[in-house]
Amino acid sequence: MYSGGAGHVLILGNLVDFTGDPGSAAEFPLVRHEPDGALWLEQGYIRLRGTRAAVEAAMTTARVVPAQVQDHRGQLVLPGLIDCHLHYPQIGMMASWGAQLLDWLQGFTFPAERAFADPAVAHEAAVFVLQRLLAHGTTTASVFATVHAHSVDAFLGEAARVGARMLCGKVMMDRHAPAELCDTVEQGAHDIADLIARWHGVDRLRYTVTPRFAPTSSEAQLALASVLYRQAQPAGQTARGDQAREVPPLHLQSHLAENAAEIAWVAELYPQRRDYFDVYQVHGLDGPHAIYGHCLHLTDREQAALRQTRTALAFCPTSNLFLGSGVFDITRRLDQGFTVGLATDVGAGSSLSMIRTQAAAYQHSQLAGAPLSPLRAWYLATLGGARALALDAQIGNFDVGKEADIVVLDDGGIAELCRRQARASNLAEHLFALTMLGDERCVAATYLMGKPAHRRA
Ligand code: GUN
Ligand code: ZN
Repeated sequence: MYSGGAGHVLILGNLVDFTGDPGSAAEFPLVRHEPDGALWLEQGYIRLRGTRAAVEAAMTTARVVPAQVQDHRGQLVLPGLIDCHLHYPQIGMMASWGAQLLDWLQGFTFPAERAFADPAVAHEAAVFVLQRLLAHGTTTASVFATVHAHSVDAFLGEAARVGARMLCGKVMMDRHAPAELCDTVEQGAHDIADLIARWHGVDRLRYTVTPRFAPTSSEAQLALASVLYRQAQPAGQTARGDQAREVPPLHLQSHLAENAAEIAWVAELYPQRRDYFDVYQVHGLDGPHAIYGHCLHLTDREQAALRQTRTALAFCPTSNLFLGSGVFDITRRLDQGFTVGLATDVGAGSSLSMIRTQAAAYQHSQLAGAPLSPLRAWYLATLGGARALALDAQIGNFDVGKEADIVVLDDGGIAELCRRQARASNLAEHLFALTMLGDERCVAATYLMGKPAHRRA
């Protein structure tokens, strides 16, 4: 007897995923490539990956007829892309001309974030950003909201509705920002505890403690961030009124060493600290669940501390170029053993696309004199991102038991890319052409837990 295939899905295609950082080597370690491959999904999780022949034979042996077959033969099938640092309220002010970090924040960013006092504005932006992320093949992101608690409700509510694995936190600021964008330690403690209780660990969602950056937080606010980040989470009622759920550790995100004027300002505000990262470190805001945007201008001590504590760096290549912040030496950082994720940093970043972000990452690596290998760029956008967000037990590759978030890619009919691919002789060359010449036109489909979440028109 063949069992009904409810909950079973078969995905066919040219599978590529990673089991580790493939490094700079010309040969292809730690990449798994099945040109005629298949994924057997059960209830949204990977049950088996392999050649089509092997997976189909295993289904036959198990007497399972899948309820659905998604035939992507001739297209690349990769794990969903992961954006490690993104400000969703800044979606409408991307491409604001002429300023570097601190003036850009005052002149463009804070006014845009002020508009999120209106919950309807937050909701509309959250719906738009989630829809666009899926169109770009991004299935997980670490997201900054605004100071307003309802801006987290808007984003995580929409993420829950579409079924995406997302992380988000309310921005904490209590000084050096417009009064409407500041909160107090007491109000923040109350709002964030409430958000954690309602969202953290619900469905696929995580709460991220989010002090914006050292200049806009008092010492007292960083101490609060520490208490929140380090606390053991009690299980409790969720936003949907469900009973207790398993509660994972909280995450932490902020910014570090992005721009020379910013670093000088931090030194003025915190003269007693050894360096910028020390401002955070004295409060215990480090470790594998913490990720810092930019990290461009690090002292030797900061580098050692980030590595020792396995704190992650979010490399934001389009943003670093757009704001003129600096060049990130991605290849050497990976070779030195830093945990690095790739990120758009919209709205300082100039695209939501993790494909275009990879292209900018390659350009940084060329300026730094150590070109990023094509496979490494795709590793960064998938398993590398999952590791940087401490979510590699759940997502990042097609290991058995992981959640089946998937992106399907092809040449998107882009004439220059089609022409280039005709000459590509191996996987790395093929993936590199896609990186440099592709964008969301190449995203044919996106799946969340095995369910179609986007299809190219
Ligand atoms: N530093 C503090 N806030 C921000 C922000 O919103 N964007 C960037 N790029 N850097 C920051
Ligand atoms: Zn940022």
